[in-house]
Amino acid sequence: MKEKIGKDEKSSELSGFYSKSLEERLELVKEFSGLSEEELGQLKEFGALDFDSANRMAENVIGTMQLPLGIATNFRINGKDYLIPMAIEEPSVIAAASNAAKIARKAFGFKAEATEPIMIGQIQLIAKDLKKARKEINARKKELLERANQADIALVKAGGGARDLILRELKGKKEKFLVLHLLVDVRDAMGANTVNTMCEKIAPKIEEITGGKVRLKIISNLAVYRTAKAKAVFTKKALEESFREFKVKGKEIVKSIIQAFELAEIDEFRACTHNKGIMNGVDAVTIATGNDWRAIEAGAHAFACWKNKSYKPLTKFYEDGKGDLVGEIELPLALGLIGGTTKSNPIARIAVKILGVKNTREFAGVIASVGLANNFAALRALATEGIQRGHMKLHAKNIAVMAGAIGVQIESIAEQMTKEKNISAERAKQILKEMNI
Ligand code: MEV
Repeated sequence: MKEKIGKDEKSSELSGFYSKSLEERLELVKEFSGLSEEELGQLKEFGALDFDSANRMAENVIGTMQLPLGIATNFRINGKDYLIPMAIEEPSVIAAASNAAKIARKAFGFKAEATEPIMIGQIQLIAKDLKKARKEINARKKELLERANQADIALVKAGGGARDLILRELKGKKEKFLVLHLLVDVRDAMGANTVNTMCEKIAPKIEEITGGKVRLKIISNLAVYRTAKAKAVFTKKALEESFREFKVKGKEIVKSIIQAFELAEIDEFRACTHNKGIMNGVDAVTIATGNDWRAIEAGAHAFACWKNKSYKPLTKFYEDGKGDLVGEIELPLALGLIGGTTKSNPIARIAVKILGVKNTREFAGVIASVGLANNFAALRALATEGIQRGHMKLHAKNIAVMAGAIGVQIESIAEQMTKEKNISAERAKQILKEMNI
């Protein structure tokens, strides 16, 4: 079960990364991840997806839609340092992840593990005698699995392939269905193509064996066999230091974060927002690396219901024997490192290189850690100072730009508005006018 990641001497603690110029940031990332000059060039282009590539990915293409790509620093997971590429339009998410990782590394950083990459393909069978159909399918299971594997010889060669066929009987409004779950080890692929092809490959045989009719044959995004877990300890001392300016006791911060978590445990309205904060981090890395974030989103929220038979938070927070805060996360992560956009989008390819993961199990452990980091950061802010302070700094800059500020004016208008606690287009225009007099 455990995916151990070896020690690595490089440090992701790039202090002051946010205040560096683009050139300096790129140089640091290049040093850490071994990016080539060509890759740096592609990042600097701020738009490396050309028409032909875009037009191969989707239909009726008329342009591309960009998102900022940033780097979260300070992550240490299973003793190895990572720089985390995150594509997201929301202010504070990347800073929050970096800050959480900085606090976590005062203990050990994150410990993460992931299961084998087993995906589920669903085949819906309609048959007159379901009991008989079950018996016949079970008797020919080996043959069906072998047939499924013929659909992806390369996967079998790489050590993956169809592993099992599980039968479930479900009652619809008018009739019962037999639902076959084809379990496939998809190795370093996301798996949708392989699983769907395998399901389609064995469907005619299932009809032949049972005399029934197959309807749906498609992957399930509720990937309950392909999950990742991560854990971190946020010491009360580190928490207190992180709030030095507010003079809040570490013990008090631990208590308020646990209280905030408890609300998510008992209330779906809060659990949904709590999980949204987790997905801020999870989605940002998923998007940066060209992965199917809709599949990850659907899987995560379905898992949040399936696990406990009602919608629950994907994380847990509790106090350990020393009074420190422990955070844990578990969620399904169907990620790919081969094929799809991960390979065809040059920026996604670079993001994967920056991340430096060797396989999808390591990748899943990293993303689970980022989700936990973003969730912790949100709870820490909400349970103490509120999130608006962090949000407002960037928001103020955007307001300054909209008011017409350029270059150094942006920073100084934003700073003044933040200090005055009056962040508005009106005030930005006024300050700009005074500057230009
Ligand atoms: C905002 O994008 C995410 C939060 O709402 C998450 C949370 O409330 O835990 C801050």
